[in-house]
Amino acid sequence: MALHSPITMAFQKPRRAAGRAKYAICAVLVLCTLFYLRNSATSTFNTAFRPIGEHLSGGGLSQNPLKSGDKSNSHPIATLIDRADKTFEDLLNKQSHDLKSAAAAYRTRRGRHPPPGFDAWYTFAQENGAVMVEDFFDQIYHDLGPFWGVEPKVMRREAWDYEMTINIRNQNASAGSAWFWTQIWLDLTKTIQHLLPDMDMALNSMDEPRIVVPWEDINGYMEKERASRKMAPPAEVVSDFQVLSHHPDTEIEIAQKWWESKKETRRFWDVASRGCHPDSLARKADHQTNFNDTPSITLAHTLPHSYKGYVSNFTLSADFCHQPDLQGLHGMMIEPLSVSSTRHLFPMFGGSKLPTNNEILLPAPMYWNNEERFSGGDDHGANWVDKQNKAIWRGVATGGKNKPDNWKGFQRHRFVAMTNATQVSGAEDWTRIPQNFALPPSEYDIAAQQEGRLGNWTGSWADTGFIDLMCLEPEKRATCYYTNPYFKVNKGMKMAEQFKRKYLPDIDGNSFSGRYRGFLLSTSLPIKATIFREWHDSRLVPWKHFVPMDNRFMDFWGIMEYFVGYEGEGIRREGHDAQAERIALAGQEWANRVLRREDMQIYVLRLLLEYARLSDERRDKMGWVADLL
Ligand SMILES: *[C@@H]1O[C@H](CO)[C@@H](O)[C@H](O)[C@H]1NC(C)=O
Ligand SMILES: *[C@@H]1O[C@H](CO)[C@@H](O)[C@H](O)[C@H]1NC(C)=O
Ligand SMILES: *[C@@H]1O[C@H](CO)[C@@H](O)[C@H](O)[C@H]1NC(C)=O
Ligand SMILES: *[C@@H]1O[C@H](CO)[C@@H](O)[C@H](O)[C@H]1NC(C)=O
Repeated sequence: MALHSPITMAFQKPRRAAGRAKYAICAVLVLCTLFYLRNSATSTFNTAFRPIGEHLSGGGLSQNPLKSGDKSNSHPIATLIDRADKTFEDLLNKQSHDLKSAAAAYRTRRGRHPPPGFDAWYTFAQENGAVMVEDFFDQIYHDLGPFWGVEPKVMRREAWDYEMTINIRNQNASAGSAWFWTQIWLDLTKTIQHLLPDMDMALNSMDEPRIVVPWEDINGYMEKERASRKMAPPAEVVSDFQVLSHHPDTEIEIAQKWWESKKETRRFWDVASRGCHPDSLARKADHQTNFNDTPSITLAHTLPHSYKGYVSNFTLSADFCHQPDLQGLHGMMIEPLSVSSTRHLFPMFGGSKLPTNNEILLPAPMYWNNEERFSGGDDHGANWVDKQNKAIWRGVATGGKNKPDNWKGFQRHRFVAMTNATQVSGAEDWTRIPQNFALPPSEYDIAAQQEGRLGNWTGSWADTGFIDLMCLEPEKRATCYYTNPYFKVNKGMKMAEQFKRKYLPDIDGNSFSGRYRGFLLSTSLPIKATIFREWHDSRLVPWKHFVPMDNRFMDFWGIMEYFVGYEGEGIRREGHDAQAERIALAGQEWANRVLRREDMQIYVLRLLLEYARLSDERRDKMGWVADLL
């Protein structure tokens, strides 16, 4: 299918240097372009979601990224919700109910014997009420896979040598560092230390993930992984772990990491995208150097992860390798707060990462710690019927280092602006040129937009705002001279208070958003966009447990129209409040079953057994095979 966008509702802001005359011409051009786009869009592309009979044939429709072959006339979100129910049902049907079937599921999915200690792991999981589905551990294998291409002794030495570690000897976990993240992870590890073999774990102490090995190298490591994937005859399998000394093997040499600083890297996109396939758009596209202009926001690169404009593959939506435009639409890519990255593969654990990072994921420290500011405490909110029919978002203008000449692409700034009634109304009646967002393309068929009331309607349900504009040069009262005209500084709002609203959009900050688990555990509905990966990703089913959103947020109005409906002057659209409630409650119930602290222990125990096997010289022969003997 063509990756082609029919319309670009971009508003190009004239350069500051331009004279007044130039500005006037440009403004006229923008308005004319807008007028043209609006009209041509209405006539040509406005039919995507209409029932079959209403479809116009031919024209530019074949290039419409929102349109796919599906001829059903139900709303695409209804279709996605139906599909999610089915996906979830299939997942539940994969449950194992005893050790033997869990081991069999493991062998089928991983192509190896389970690691030594699998029986103790299974018992631990059982005793702690785990929902036992092998797929829930996929992230572990994604993260550890490349290390089958690294020698065990090198892995051990790398881990030992790292500046921040947890060390486990004789079933006792300890850490030299008092850094609070280390201490939280140590606390988690200590709860399962009686089941752990000797090992050293290197920990990432920064917010940002740090290892990005070029795709070509990872591919080489993964070839070794595939070649090593086999099941030794049970009689030959070794079922114990090595015992490690308290001292490193100084004979083993390890490579320099050559940490790249922000100065050296210039653009973080170069770092992040080297983990993409050489033929990917991320690697091939032109590199954006100017972030001062109004970003061009189009659906051109959303097709691979979307169904008629809505996210159908959430994992893929976070993967920027096919989305070169995200280099200008996310603070992490535009200008991260700090960079210290390496292309050298070594085993380092961290709490979140980009799809191209090679860290080994642990549950993020704030999830284990259950901090109120992230979780909302024990008050998970009122009954659905008592909640306000609103979308609430409060946060700090993070995302990276925002500056006078780069803030417009920052995701939080974009989101807050496009949910600001004044700004949207201004864009609609052409009295105000949007600085950093675009109106929804007409494929979304937003009723309020057709009636010219998009801003007014948005204002009826959106309550979004910054509590700190995070200025480059910090100002009193959290304001910021270059973003003040567009954003107000609001008071903070406790999570428990936010949970009195039905809809909870969740937008990345400097790294992943640590509130997500709290949102899931609330009785409100999380609407999530991200470019980060976390330990729990394969346990959550989008459209079943939460609502996924594209990183451009152009689908947000459509999502809200579907759930809250629209009552206009001429047009009326039915809302789907009961479906929103159902997803909110299913998400909460599921989070209470598979995102508990026990589930983090079970995940980490499995992860560390695998990691210990990988770090053992005898790894190719090691396994748990008691069920086969
Ligand atoms: C575990 O290790 C720590 C640090 O080395 C030590 O202080 C503690 O006594 C050890 N605990 C046990 C039970 O061996
Ligand atoms: C999402 O896309 C990836 C990559 O193309 C694919 O492997 C995966 O199966 C897709 N997942 C779903 C749920 O369609
Ligand atoms: C929307 O418009 C109506 C009148 O047309 C007005 O009463 C209402 O206050 C407006 N709402 C918002 C949020 O701007
Ligand atoms: C909405 O936009 C207007 C105009 O740019 C701005 O004055 C106002 O502070 C914004 N509101 C919020 C909550 O950011």
